[in-house]
Formats: sequence, C-alpha cells, structure tokens
Amino acid sequence: MRLSLAGSTAAPAALPVPVRIGGFGGAERLAVYLKAEGVDVLIDATHPYARKMSANAAWAAQTVGVPLIALQRPPWAQVEGDRWIEVDSVGEAVEALGASPRRVFLALGRKDIAPFAEAPQHHYVVRSVDPIDPPLAVPSADYIRARGPFSEENDRALLNKYRIDVVVSKNSGGSATYGKIAAARALALPVVMLRRPPSQPDVPVVETADEVIALLDHTLAPDAARGV
Ligand SMILES: NC(=O)c1ccc[n+]([C@@H]2O[C@H](COP(=O)([O-])OP(=O)(O)OC[C@H]3O[C@@H](n4cnc5c(N)ncnc54)[C@H](OP(=O)(O)O)[C@@H]3O)[C@@H](O)[C@H]2O)c1
Repeated sequence: MRLSLAGSTAAPAALPVPVRIGGFGGAERLAVYLKAEGVDVLIDATHPYARKMSANAAWAAQTVGVPLIALQRPPWAQVEGDRWIEVDSVGEAVEALGASPRRVFLALGRKDIAPFAEAPQHHYVVRSVDPIDPPLAVPSADYIRARGPFSEENDRALLNKYRIDVVVSKNSGGSATYGKIAAARALALPVVMLRRPPSQPDVPVVETADEVIALLDHTLAPDAARGV
C-alpha cells in the first residue's frame, strides 16, 4: 500500500503507511506511475473539492485498466436551526456576503481565499494549517493557524471572540471540521456553504474506509473466490 499526498501541507500529520509526496505531473504521468508500480487498485481518497486530482485519477485508472474506488465522506445536511446560503462557487460566496461590511470567518483552503479580495469592505478571519502567504489583499484580516479536529465548543468561543457575523465553508462532511457549523447554528449565524462539485461519473463511491476494505477484498480476490 502507498499513500500519495499532493504536498500542499508543509508538515503533514504522521501516517501509519508508506507515503509519497508531490504531484505526478498530470493524468498521463499518473497512468505511467500506476503501470510502472504495478498498482492493483487505486483509491481516490482526496477531499471532495479536489476536482482535478479526481479527474486525473479517473482518466489514468481507465487508461491503464486499474480498478478505481472513490472514498467520499457524505456531505453534511442542514438540520433545524441551520441558516445556510448554498452557493456553487467561491465567486458566488463572495457575492453572498453582500455590500455592507461584515465580519467573516473564512474556513476555506489557502487556494480558495484570493477572490475575497474583491470584497475588501469585510473583515476576514482566516483559519488555515499553513500560513497564508501572501496575505489576503484586504485592509482588515486576522489569521489563525490551526489544524483540526475542531470542537463545537472551541469554534463557538472563536466565533464569539472575533465577533463573527457569517461563516464561509465547504461541505466537507465528517466530524473533524463540523464544529464551526454546529457553532454557527448555536449562535444563529448564517453559513455560506459551497456546494460540492459533482463526483466522477462511472466511479464507484463509498463513504467509509471499511467499505473500501470490503470492496478491496472483493476486487482483489481470485476469480474463484468471487464466484466468477
Ligand atoms: N480542495 C480542498 O478543499 C482540500 C481540502 C483539504 C484537503 N485537500 C487535499 O489537498 C490536496 C490538493 O487539493 P487540491 O484541491 O489542490 O487538488 P486538485 O486541484 O484536485 O489537484 C491539483 C494537483 O495537485 C496534485 N495532487 C492533488 N492531490 C494529490 C495527491 N493525493 N497525490 C499527488 N498529487 C496530488 C495533482 O498534481 P499533478 O497533476 O501534478 O499530479 C493535481 O493535478 C488533495 O490531495 C486534497 O485531497 C483539498
């Protein structure tokens, strides 16, 4: 087994499996890698918003005939008390903040925050694992460096401390970053929620690691054991 990381995080958390780090150089190079390394199954466990890598994985796996399984946490669903404004792009999220100055908690990746410079009337509080460099081109922003998981209690304190009016979030799913969503609900704050991009067509999607393992057992079992 080998885990591949993009290399976007300067000091990734320790992992209990062999890791390789860095892009492959595009879908064709990934296909070459899969073949050269004799990969039997490719698991796309990228974040639901990592569109390019998921598309590359689908293309490469199809091209070299390697089975592909996508592991995707189910998205969060609105529950009573949530005040979500759902949008399809970061640009729409910027617009959804409106013209009047607001105090905005930006819980997006470093790559996604630049468009908020188009709305410099707001005060931004940006939380990220690595430093935001260069900083957001706005007159007023605070930067918090932290790595999840984040509890509701922690995030409620944070939203209060920075007197946040609105939270901007991706619909990541899972519990590690749900704290801010629960905290916004508790404080009756709106959340501008970026909808997920569509997943790759024709790729089986499972929601848990256990389901991946079960599928792996099936995919890798000799034909006879599968009743083929
Ligand atoms: N997007 C998010 O909101 C988000 C949030 C949390 C974590 N992440 C993780 O951060 C990584 C980068 O995210 P992204 O949105 O920048 O991805 P992306 O736009 O889909 O991919 C950009 C490029 O990064 C490289 N790459 C991405 N994932 C890789 C991997 N697991 N192993 C090797 N190379 C990889 C690929 O480079 P080459 O074409 O050169 O191979 C890919 O073309 C992903 O692995 C994702 O799971 C993303």
